[in-house]
Amino acid sequence: MTYTPTPADKFTFGLWTVGNVGRDPFGEPVRAPLSPVEIVRLLAEVGAWGVNFHDNDLVPIDATPAERDRIVREFRAALSATGLVVPMATTNLFTDPAFKDGAFTANDPTVRAYALQKTMRAIDLGVECGATTYVFWGGREGVESDAAKDPLEASKRFREALNFLCAYVRDQGYDLRFALEPKPNEPRGDIYLATVGHALAFITTLDHPAMVGVNPEVAHETMAGLNFLHGVAQAWEAGKLFHIDLNDQVIGRYDQDFRFGAVNLKAAFFLVKFLEEVGYSGSRHFDAHAYRTESYEGVKDFARGCMRTYLILREKARQWSADAEIQALLADLRGGDQSTIAYSRGAAEDLKARDFDRAALGARGLAYERLDQLTVELLLGVR
Ligand code: GCO
Ligand code: MN
Ligand code: MN
Repeated sequence: MTYTPTPADKFTFGLWTVGNVGRDPFGEPVRAPLSPVEIVRLLAEVGAWGVNFHDNDLVPIDATPAERDRIVREFRAALSATGLVVPMATTNLFTDPAFKDGAFTANDPTVRAYALQKTMRAIDLGVECGATTYVFWGGREGVESDAAKDPLEASKRFREALNFLCAYVRDQGYDLRFALEPKPNEPRGDIYLATVGHALAFITTLDHPAMVGVNPEVAHETMAGLNFLHGVAQAWEAGKLFHIDLNDQVIGRYDQDFRFGAVNLKAAFFLVKFLEEVGYSGSRHFDAHAYRTESYEGVKDFARGCMRTYLILREKARQWSADAEIQALLADLRGGDQSTIAYSRGAAEDLKARDFDRAALGARGLAYERLDQLTVELLLGVR
C-alpha cells in the first residue's frame, strides 16, 4: 500500500488553506504569500485533485475588471497545465470591515445589498472556473450581544438572501448547488445556524430547498462538543451532504484547523468508514492549515499528511469490515431478527399484552468494551 492520492479520491484544498501565511491574533505572518498560480502548482505537486477558493483568494477585492480577467486567465491556464479542477467556490463575506456586523444578516440594508452583489459576482467567477458547489459560511452572521440583533429578523434576512441567490442561479441556468456551512462561534461571539442540525432545519424553510444542502466541518461541530459523525449521518440520510470540510480540533479550544486526523484518530476513522461505506461521492475537502511553525516544505508535509491519513483510514475501514473477530461480535450484537413492528390495532394490542423479561434484558453484557478495544488495536496496527 502506497497511500498515494488519485483523482478518484477527490481530495481538494482551498487557496486559503495551503496558502495560509500563519497570521494569528497574536502574531504576524510567518510565510510569504504565494500567488494562486503557485498554490495550484504546489497542490499538483502533492497530488491533490482540486482547488477551491473564496472570490478574494483569487481576485483582490479592489481589482479592476481588466485585472480580474488577467488573473482568471492565468489561474485557468495553471489549472489546464496541472489538470486540477475547481469543484467548489465561495464568497469572502468576513474579512472586509464592511462586514463587521455580518453580510446577509447585517442590520444595515446597504451592507446586505452589497453582500448580495458580491456573492452574485463571486458565483459568476466560481462557475466560470467550473464550480458546481457553492459554499455559504456565515462567519460574521451573528452577534456578540443579543441586544444588537433580533434573531427572528436575522433568520428572515438569511432566508431572503438565500432565496434571492437561488433564484439568481436558476435564472442564469447555472449547474450549481448551495452548501451551508455551520459553525457555533468564531469570529463572532455566536454565529447563527450554529450546527448541522440548525442548518438542516433551516433549509426546509427556503423557496428551493432541493438545491441547498450542508457542508459540515469536523472542527465546527467539535468546537460545540458534538459528535461530528452523527451530524454527517443525519445530513446524509436527508440527502443533504453536498460537501464536507475535513480537519481536526480539540474540544473547547480556539478554532484550530489542524491536519485531518491530528487529534482524534478514532473519530476520523469512523468518519472515513462512514463516507466510504455509504458511497459519498463528493469532494473530500481539507479545510485546515499547517502549524504556524512551518515553512512551505512543512505545508506540503501537512497537505500530504491529510490525504495519506484519509487513505490509511480507508484501508483500516476495509480491514475492520473483514476482521473475523470484530464481525463475529457485531453479528452477535446487531444480528438476530431486526424486523420492526408495523402498526396495526392488533399489533399494538399484542405488544401491550406481551411479557418481557426485563431483568434478562438488563443483565446481558454487550461486549462493547471488547469491540472498542479491538478497534483501537486495529488502528494501532497490532491486528
Ligand atoms: C472557518 C471556515 C472557513 C470556510 C470557508 C469556505 O472556520 O474559517 O471553516 O474556512 O470553510 O470560508 O466557506
Ligand atoms: Mn472552519
Ligand atoms: Mn470550513
